[in-house]
Amino acid sequence: MDFEHVLVAGAGQMGAGIAQVVAASGRRVSLYDAAPGATERGLAAMRKSLEKLAEKGGGDPEEVLGRVAAVDDLVPADLLIEAVIEDAAVKEELFRRADQLLPDGAVLASNTSSIPITSLAAVTGRPERVIGMHFFNPVPVLKLVEVIRAVQTSDETAAAITALAEELGKVPAQANDFPGFVSNRILMPFINEAAYALMEGVAEREAIDTIAKLGFAHPMGPLALADLIGLDTCVAIMEVLHDGLGNPKYAPCPLLRQYVQAGRLGRKSGRGFYSYS
Ligand code: 3HC
Repeated sequence: MDFEHVLVAGAGQMGAGIAQVVAASGRRVSLYDAAPGATERGLAAMRKSLEKLAEKGGGDPEEVLGRVAAVDDLVPADLLIEAVIEDAAVKEELFRRADQLLPDGAVLASNTSSIPITSLAAVTGRPERVIGMHFFNPVPVLKLVEVIRAVQTSDETAAAITALAEELGKVPAQANDFPGFVSNRILMPFINEAAYALMEGVAEREAIDTIAKLGFAHPMGPLALADLIGLDTCVAIMEVLHDGLGNPKYAPCPLLRQYVQAGRLGRKSGRGFYSYS
């Protein structure tokens, strides 16, 4: 399978990062987002990131950006990588539309954090060519791509997407389609537990993050990481784990829920566990 032209749906922090690494690999990218102004913001974030990388000997930002076109609807391409909000109904609708529009041989991939790939595959007429391609934030920096096979995914599709991840300079790791896959099955309960520790007064937020940073050599503590990911996304993923695995230990921490209700979503809203100017 040749993925010369890639359609990225969703121009938020993940979609923009994905579009950037795909364009940097020499491929043509169409970037789509339904929200007004979102593709412009995505392109601005890409430019900033590419300029940082250029200072360290990376390629010419203009050359990479020259391969990215903002589009105002889905367009035919060899591959869709979907990175829209973590809402199953929204993703299913997008997969239905893409299935109608993209050529029969095209692959439909989702960057979902936790929504079942099997159910996305089931709404299309090409379930064997549907797969999870899960990148990590910040996409231009982090090396992992978790490749998630739906029950229906063919070996050919899994092999092609694994090869593509390597061509993007990433390290692919395969997981099966269970709630949260591997990454968020491990990461989200860790973040949730850190929120419980804060809520129960076990320690101050700085101490919790320092303990993880210096004690476990994590690049950032779990509360700062939750702010980077988005607290709404963390709650949504915990709900998928809770519903999908049926174990009360996955219930989202009430403090996380409360912050989301207050609009404290993390970096993207200017305040989460910490404040950002
Ligand atoms: N583009 C290009 N370069 C970037 C960048 C970006 N978007 N963001 C950071 N960088 C570069 C910086 O320029 C810097 O380069 P240098 O070392 O050459 O100066 C380097 O990365 C480190 O950045 P900073 O100095 O600004 O800060 P840190 O050393 O604290 O690193 C971090 C920032 C890369 C975010 C690091 O803290 C980190 O890796 N944190 C953990 C992130 C993580 O766990 N992500 C996974 C989230 S889970 C997920 O995404 C899945 C989803 O399903 C929830």
